Parts: sequence; C-alpha cells; structure tokens
Amino acid sequence: MRTIDWQDGLIVAIDQTRLPHEVEFLRIRTIEDLVTAIRSLAIRGAPALGAAGALGVALAARLHPDDPAELGRAAAAVRAARPTAVNLAWGVDRVRARVEADGPAAALDEALAVLAEDVRCCRALSERGARWLVETVGPRLAVQTHCNAGALATVEWGTALGVVRSLREQGALTHVYASETRPLLQGARLTVWELAQLGVPHTLVVDSAAASVLAQGLVGAVVVGADRIAANGDVVNKVGTYPLALAAARAGVPMVVAAPESTVDLATPSGRDVHIEVRAPQEITVLGAAALAPAGTGTLNYAFDITPADLVTAIVTERRIILPAAGGRPDDDAGPA
Ligand code: MRU
Repeated sequence: MRTIDWQDGLIVAIDQTRLPHEVEFLRIRTIEDLVTAIRSLAIRGAPALGAAGALGVALAARLHPDDPAELGRAAAAVRAARPTAVNLAWGVDRVRARVEADGPAAALDEALAVLAEDVRCCRALSERGARWLVETVGPRLAVQTHCNAGALATVEWGTALGVVRSLREQGALTHVYASETRPLLQGARLTVWELAQLGVPHTLVVDSAAASVLAQGLVGAVVVGADRIAANGDVVNKVGTYPLALAAARAGVPMVVAAPESTVDLATPSGRDVHIEVRAPQEITVLGAAALAPAGTGTLNYAFDITPADLVTAIVTERRIILPAAGGRPDDDAGPA
C-alpha cells in the first residue's frame, strides 16, 4: 500500500490527520485540495511531500495542458504550501523541468518516476543505515526515534523507520522508543501505529522523557529523518530533534539521520539559512474543544529545529554515509560508497 499515488487521473493519499483512528484515503482532484492537504498535514513528511509536489505538477498539467501560465501558477502554489522540507520544491521543480523539456504530457511519467525512485532510495538507505549501525553499535540494538519518518512520511517504505525495518530484517533490532512529538503527535499517532502494524516491539515516551531514555542507556542509537540537510551538515527536522541530539551527545549515543539525497540541499549553506515553519497558536493552546492555556496566550510554535552538524554522528543516504561530527560535509562527496 502506498501512502501517496496516482490513480484514475487523480492523487490518492492516506489522510494522516485521521490516523490512528481510521485509515481513510483522500482523492485529490484540484490544486486547492492538494495545497490544503499539505498545509493540514494530511500529507506530510519530507519524501511524501516530494511525491506530492511531483504529482501536483502532473495534476496541474492534466488540468491545464494548454495553459502554461496557469500550470505555472498551480505549480508555484504547491511549491509554497510548506516552506521547510526541501523535497516539496524539489519534486515540483523536477517535474516542471520535464514539462519544459518535453511538454505537459510528460509530467505524469516524471512524477511516477519520482515515486518509484523514492521507494528504491528508501530501501537502499535503510539497508546501508542498518549495516552501519550493526558495525558501529553492535549486533543487537534498541533505537530511539522522533516524529514519523516511516512509510507514511514517504511513498511506502520509510527513512528512519526504514532503517528500523532493515535492522529487524537483519535480526538486529530489539526495541524502538518513540517520542510522542508535540504538538501534533506524529510519533504517538503515526509512528506507533506503523510499529504496531509491523509487529515491532515499541514503547511511547513523552518528548521530555527522551533525554532520560538516553541517559538510562536504553538505546544504542537515535535514528531520525530530515526535512532539509544543509551543505555544512546541519540537519533541519521536526522540533525536538535538536534536544534529542544534545542528549545523545551527552550519553555518547550515535545520532543518525536517515534521508534520501533529495533532502540534501547544497544550495543552503547552513541550518541558519533555512526557513523554519511557524504554525498556528491553536496547535498548542487548544486540544479538541479544551483550552490548554489562557485565551490570548502568545506562542512560538516552531514546527522544526536545527541540529548543528557537530551533533550529527552520521547522515545515511541511498548513496553514501556522511559523518558530520567527525568533519564530513554533504558538499564534500568523499564519504564511503
Ligand atoms: O511536520 P511534519 O510531520 O511534515 O514533519 C515531518 C518530519 O519532521 C520528519 O521527521 C521528516 O519530514 C522526515 S520524514 C522521512
């Protein structure tokens, strides 16, 4: 089952706002609906956003085959739906370039190639990451993760949870600790749901317990995904990743980032140059109908944070392993194949 796909002339995607209660699919026929799905996090996670961007241009090409200006406006709207994950812009730009070269009829081919590549890349980086962890940490280990970097965040396999799946295939996984990921609970709602589906032994902790899990020696590695990796190795990922990296460094536990090359943005020199999305106050002041804070409370609802390169032990992609804490940089292609 794919998280996002093209069926019968429209985009079909799991509505991630409904999980874990129900598995429902959105059938997206318009660019407005796609933008709403991305903004509301019905479709989320960097590689899945790359697929959404690619399919969005394919949809626009289908809706406006003879109107390049309208196609351009539609592509720009999808590209701007969320600012932080580079994959969204990457997916849009890749299919737009194909349209420029070969016309609107080629858009769908290119978008479907993006989806197929995502599946291949996730598999490859997961196997590489699992092998590296077994060699570096030991033959059996528990893993801590944050947010959701699983099948739901990609087309079908996952990045951080892909590494977890590969570790399990290699008989090397003992347990997964997942942090709930305030305020939208991608860890509790999505990662735990995926781990349960997969039959992987797991435990949910609140975000503020993550440092204690590390300090207690309960895990051999932290493995997370990324929304954008800067040229210097700084990693932008779900808010809460930076404190996890600080705690991992203190505990002497490797901090591993699993992501496809499409998340590496060599045009962005450092994490400081990344636009960090700030989301609506209501996400942290209200829970359902209940107020969590006095009316009118000011908020700073960062959706992502920046983990400096010196706290990142390894970045694993489908092509290489980069060791930022040891001086490796994404823009220096010298990592082992
Ligand atoms: O706001 P979200 O849910 O889109 O944030 C997702 C994350 O931060 C993920 O960790 C990241 O996109 C990597 S997904 C393989």
